[in-house]
Amino acid sequence: MTSLSDLVSALPPGYRVRSATADDLGDIHRLVAACERELFGLSRTDLGRIAADFARPGLVPESDTRLIHDRTGQLAARAWVNRRCEVHVHPEQRGRGLGGSLLAWAETRARQTGATRIVQTVPDSHTDAVALLRSRAYEPMVTEWLLEFRMTEEPAVPEPPAGITVRPFRAGDEHDTHQLVQDAFDEWQQRRMGYEEWARHTVERPTFAPSTSTLAFADGQLVGAVISLNLPDTDEGYVEQVAVRRDHRNRGIARLLLLSAFRAHHQRGRRTCTLGTHSDTGALNLYLRAGMTVRYSSTVFRKDL
Ligand SMILES: CC(C)(COP(=O)(O)OP(=O)(O)OC[C@H]1O[C@@H](n2cnc3c(N)ncnc32)[C@H](O)[C@@H]1OP(=O)(O)O)[C@@H](O)C(=O)NCCC(=O)NCCS
Repeated sequence: MTSLSDLVSALPPGYRVRSATADDLGDIHRLVAACERELFGLSRTDLGRIAADFARPGLVPESDTRLIHDRTGQLAARAWVNRRCEVHVHPEQRGRGLGGSLLAWAETRARQTGATRIVQTVPDSHTDAVALLRSRAYEPMVTEWLLEFRMTEEPAVPEPPAGITVRPFRAGDEHDTHQLVQDAFDEWQQRRMGYEEWARHTVERPTFAPSTSTLAFADGQLVGAVISLNLPDTDEGYVEQVAVRRDHRNRGIARLLLLSAFRAHHQRGRRTCTLGTHSDTGALNLYLRAGMTVRYSSTVFRKDL
């Protein structure tokens, strides 16, 4: 079994391991951003997402996170595990066994909690990470795609279906939107998010963009929502969540909300919008038909413990 001290002994001389605290979130964000810039040329993760993951219900930083610092005190790698797992090794620190050590730690920690499997998402272009996971008996489970919508001119927005009105998100819409999104995501998500957790990922996130988030109403009732973010390191708009109430599906409401959000981003000077989806949602076709294209794909790997 890999204990904390085994993990230390597996590291290069002078490297140190400890758990993360809230004071480390800025350093973790810079590490994740460096990994993303290396892979994609730009960073997609904002500090709010790192903070929301750190505050995940059930995640105990002391036992469920690890940071590795190099001999100069720079953050070289980090991992957390809580049903899902993320491991990041700084591009300049690759090839030193840090990723393998953290992966072994994460599996051990997951077993300690009684978890029967561990899940990790890796971009397909990150071939080293894919090879590492495969060599350790991880198997592909789900495909994720990052899609983009390029706007050379202001996108045309279709007329709403009869009885549907669309407007931007306003203060006071938070709880209805949480309910709508979580009811829709319950069709495929493993675990429903309570309001506080959902809000940390969306409406309370510093990058939340209410004016480019669009809501659809029928008879005064919320029936559809698109939640947008302004990610700081890019000049692209980002759509974080799309949901339509089941009894209003297949009327073009998601497409209408998306194109309304894209137009609002365009009006604010953005020329590209991105959005992530995965193979369990069945929504890929909707996005492709709306004119989006796949920028890159990732695989969610699973290992039964
Ligand atoms: C995915 C989701 C948002 C789609 O919402 P929707 O309002 O039904 O989407 P639309 O009506 O705009 O498009 C859905 C389909 O209806 C078709 N459609 C659009 N207008 C239509 C109309 N007037 N009549 C009939 N069909 C229509 C679209 O072509 C589309 O078909 P396609 O997927 O084969 O391209 C909804 O199913 C949902 O909330 N799912 C659960 C949450 C989820 O998975 N969200 C996406 C996360 S990435």
